[in-house]
Amino acid sequence: MIKAVTGTKDILPADISKWRYLEELVRTEFSKFGYKEIRTPIFEETTLFARGIGEETDIVSKEMYTFIDRSDTSVTLKPEMTACVVRAFLEHSLGKQQVLNKLFYISPMFRQERPQAGRFRQFHQFGAEAIGSTDPALDAEMIIMSYDILRNLGLKELTIKINSLGVPKSREKYKKILREYFSDKLDQLSDESKKRFETNILRVLDSKDERDIKVVENAPMLIDHLDEESLEHFEKVKQILLASGISFEIEPKLVRGLDYYTHTTFEVVSGSVGAQSALLGGGRYDNLIEELGGKATPGVGFAAGMERILLACENENCLNLSPESIDAYFVSLDKEVSQKVYELALLFRRKGLTIELDYAGRSVKAQMREANKMNAKYVVFIGGEEFEKDLIRLKNMENGNEETLPITGIEQIMNLIKGN
Ligand code: HAM
Repeated sequence: MIKAVTGTKDILPADISKWRYLEELVRTEFSKFGYKEIRTPIFEETTLFARGIGEETDIVSKEMYTFIDRSDTSVTLKPEMTACVVRAFLEHSLGKQQVLNKLFYISPMFRQERPQAGRFRQFHQFGAEAIGSTDPALDAEMIIMSYDILRNLGLKELTIKINSLGVPKSREKYKKILREYFSDKLDQLSDESKKRFETNILRVLDSKDERDIKVVENAPMLIDHLDEESLEHFEKVKQILLASGISFEIEPKLVRGLDYYTHTTFEVVSGSVGAQSALLGGGRYDNLIEELGGKATPGVGFAAGMERILLACENENCLNLSPESIDAYFVSLDKEVSQKVYELALLFRRKGLTIELDYAGRSVKAQMREANKMNAKYVVFIGGEEFEKDLIRLKNMENGNEETLPITGIEQIMNLIKGN
């Protein structure tokens, strides 16, 4: 039997209401903050990600689904959206239409990572990007907006972690200091970190390997080597968060896995989902747009993992949605009426009601069982003696009350079912 590819998952009808609920909540929250939806293709030219995310990142160096298409172009299934949004922003000159572009997305992403709980090869993100302002208030707004979404889902075990990576100039200086610190301790580092020492030294800081953690413990931290401008920006972000009643932790080792960040980086982690605890992450990227060929334009954004969020909801027992129901189940009391049942069902469906009926010639008892399983608010009995008198019987499944109405009294039947 052919199965879904490792690391991918079907979302079955039984789970779909949670996804829809999450998507709707996300859309409502984003629109409150003035964000407009953007949809970009599922694949892009590979160079976009190589240049945007950084050649030395894990994503680009080992996780991308890249292939050569039939026109000999190297294309990649999108592993994240920020580079795609920036590409679209530049291609359509969105910056000329508006000083500040506030964009949001909900989309599948693809990364060939080792699958485990909360980590997939096709997963879904919602996220937002605000392009066109350096205002630290936007960094804070991004953190608050993303946190609000999680809180509004009912999640409680949340911690906001923030850090500043400063501007590239101070980061380059700091990298030298870090290189010096690690240079006589290389033999104590993991193989991965030995490699990163050469290619992407900041990533040594957020390694989860015990050996690295020990060495990193006493390493100099970037936050203590920030220039004045970066410190001031970070101070303002913190002030706004505090004034808005948002608690956070400063995590000097939060460098994140994508190369485009400047100034603020942040994550919201959950205490209820195990090892893959980052529900969302983001930060400021003031140089990315220029790196991708545009005029220097600042940006800030975040993305959240929807599978992880739904897992946290399950573990924290929030998101208790009422079971799906239908307006009415039409029961045929005898076979002769089936044509009439189809007609009536169609009529009511076209008027906006959700109607189910039997397609297998089952007994009345079996049809009733089905109606109960579907949480029908009403059962409409069609057939028998009543049908000969042009009447149908309706049963309110909540209180058991029954009413007999003329089959032609469509409005009356509608109102009864709708509860008017
Ligand atoms: P990221 O940290 O790579 O950032 O991903 C954001 C979130 O996506 C993670 O916190 C996690 O919840 C989820 N995620 C990532 N990889 C997987 C996976 N393999 N399986 C399940 N969930 C996953 C970004 O993607 C940036 N584009 C965020 C951003 C937007 N920064 C600025 N603007």
